[in-house]
Amino acid sequence: MYPKAPQLLQGKGVTDDPVTESYWKVANGIRLTGMPAFKTKLTDTQLWQVSQLLAHANEVSDSVKRVLVTDITTPAPPLRSALSSKDK
Ligand code: HEM
Repeated sequence: MYPKAPQLLQGKGVTDDPVTESYWKVANGIRLTGMPAFKTKLTDTQLWQVSQLLAHANEVSDSVKRVLVTDITTPAPPLRSALSSKDK
């Protein structure tokens, strides 16, 4: 993927950016990159929660990060909203 997806729980990530800026990027995605828009997948509260988490990523303890950063080889569970009605 180009540009590469940033590792937002490592280093500075977006901790220097206003939370409103990250909220906008998570909600609307970033055009011409692989960054998708999440506003139809997450509630407004969830969009703010994930944006606040990233804005404060440098304050998150290592033990919490270990829980959040799953092994990339572990398949993610399917999104409920991605299931069509016949799969439910
Ligand atoms: C809930 C999940 C996600 C969140 C909260 C999130 C959040 C973000 C944020 C805040 C940025 C901006 C970083 C910056 O300004 O420096 C970003 C960039 C990016 N994200 Fe995501 N992201 C998510 C999922 C994904 C997924 C699933 C992909 C691809 C499969 C992706 C690909 C990218 C890429 C390629 C960029 C860099 C765009 C650029 O360089 O301009 N993201 N993401």
